[in-house]
Amino acid sequence: MIILFLAACLLYYCGIIIHRLYFSPLAKFPGSKLAAATGWYEFYYDYWLEGKYLWEIEKMHKKYGPIIRVNPDELSIRDADFYNEVYVTESKRRTNAHDLFCKGIDFDGCHLLTTDHDLHRRRRKPLEPFFSRLGISRLQPMLAEVALHLESRIRELKGSNKVIRLDHAFSAFSGDIIGRICLDDGTGSGRFLDDPDFSPEWYDVIHAIVRSIPLFTQFPSIIRVLSLIPESVLLWAYPRGQMFNIFKQRAKDHIRRAMSKTKGDKLSHENESSLFHHIVASDMPESERSEERLAKEAQVLLGGGTASTARTIGFASFYILTQPELRANLEAELRDVMSDWPTRVPTWTTLEQLPLLQAIIKESLRLSYGVMHRLPRVSPDVSIQYKGYTIPPGVAVGMSAYLQHSDAEVFPSPDKFIPERWFAGNVTPAMNKSYVPFCRGSRNCLGMNLAMAEMSLILAVLYRPNGPEFELFETDESDVKQAHDFLIPLPKLTTKGVRALVR
Ligand code: HEM
Repeated sequence: MIILFLAACLLYYCGIIIHRLYFSPLAKFPGSKLAAATGWYEFYYDYWLEGKYLWEIEKMHKKYGPIIRVNPDELSIRDADFYNEVYVTESKRRTNAHDLFCKGIDFDGCHLLTTDHDLHRRRRKPLEPFFSRLGISRLQPMLAEVALHLESRIRELKGSNKVIRLDHAFSAFSGDIIGRICLDDGTGSGRFLDDPDFSPEWYDVIHAIVRSIPLFTQFPSIIRVLSLIPESVLLWAYPRGQMFNIFKQRAKDHIRRAMSKTKGDKLSHENESSLFHHIVASDMPESERSEERLAKEAQVLLGGGTASTARTIGFASFYILTQPELRANLEAELRDVMSDWPTRVPTWTTLEQLPLLQAIIKESLRLSYGVMHRLPRVSPDVSIQYKGYTIPPGVAVGMSAYLQHSDAEVFPSPDKFIPERWFAGNVTPAMNKSYVPFCRGSRNCLGMNLAMAEMSLILAVLYRPNGPEFELFETDESDVKQAHDFLIPLPKLTTKGVRALVR
């Protein structure tokens, strides 16, 4: 019986592989047969070799051309001229997400992972006003308060000889900002910047989730199995998961209180301008406003609002602190606008006018990529024509910011940090076309304006004349440069982080 069962399984899998290679709608596309035959090929690179498939994809593009099949269900295109055809606005075409993307990480129901175009729009729309330019300008006083909080925490350490983890500090900074937008209860409780070590658990939990994506995507049912294990046992096995639980609970409590407030409970002292008060009171259908779904939305916003922004600030800081001339020029540029900080806080619009500051941010985003992984999109209704290839409706096709940002023909010496390439007069149309840190189209980054405002302000505060005197401590380029693609890029896994002393 066992032999018969094994033979039946073998036959079944051979059938699947033959279908994938010869009869699937993707069979005609170029690429490695192994990648086309089985998802284990990608799993090997991304799980076993820890986030390395993107570099294999890069090699495959060199070998097979600009359009390739990267697994049984998905295509990758490397051609900046075609980016705007894959990542389209809703006025041009409906765009579904690829349902296998990040499957199994238990955030189903948040708008980021909502497959259907129309439902994604309905879930995203009520969030948009908070992150529009106008929305961000209203947040200016709060951004300044958090920036001042970070600065004063750093100043407390002046001369202490204590080595601080700047990457933790920046995660605490961006985490507090998005936390205040989403869940602020007005009491100031639970703020990451208050922690003496800048809440390393918050940084760790985000990185633990990100690193588990390849495993959970390959075995989406793991999360169901985990949900059967009592929480106390899981926390015993992984004590650092505590932070995640605290946040899940904080999100749920806040949403529950916001719900009871809208039902007329006058006892609540919540900050009624929080994003989730707005959502709970919006005209979203009741089914969309369940505590469970909104808590997942909150967790994704908290994670998304923390990781890339913090990483980019850390990336920029590394180069500012290791290039004295760059630092001196930046200080000179910031002298006037920051002369009365914190009494007078420069607006984001003012900071946007500073060419070197903005060039540093752009170059940091170019080299830290935001989301490095290919971002698959599906056109559910119509086919997409790429040169001689017709991509049928329903097929996932992705492109990667890494492949665009590292094109040596567009960005000479692509691995080098050269902010001057973004100065007026140096920017070519090809650079603008290839530069996509926030993605494009109807599923682009929701928090783009917030991220730009945050990064502009904190870099201005930290690197203005008379700002805190940092000195990097045993940190080199390998502590910031990408070595692994876990959706977001991570530096070498043995890094001790971006560390500094405050003189
Ligand atoms: C330097 C900072 C940031 C970068 C480079 C960045 C980049 C990106 C990219 C490339 C995407 C597309 C992901 C995909 O297609 O799966 C994205 C989506 C998203 N980002 Fe950001 N992000 C940043 C900061 C933020 C911040 C501060 C927030 C806070 C609200 C945020 C919230 C989101 C959300 C909610 C989505 C999903 C949008 C959707 O599916 O409609 N991001 N981000």
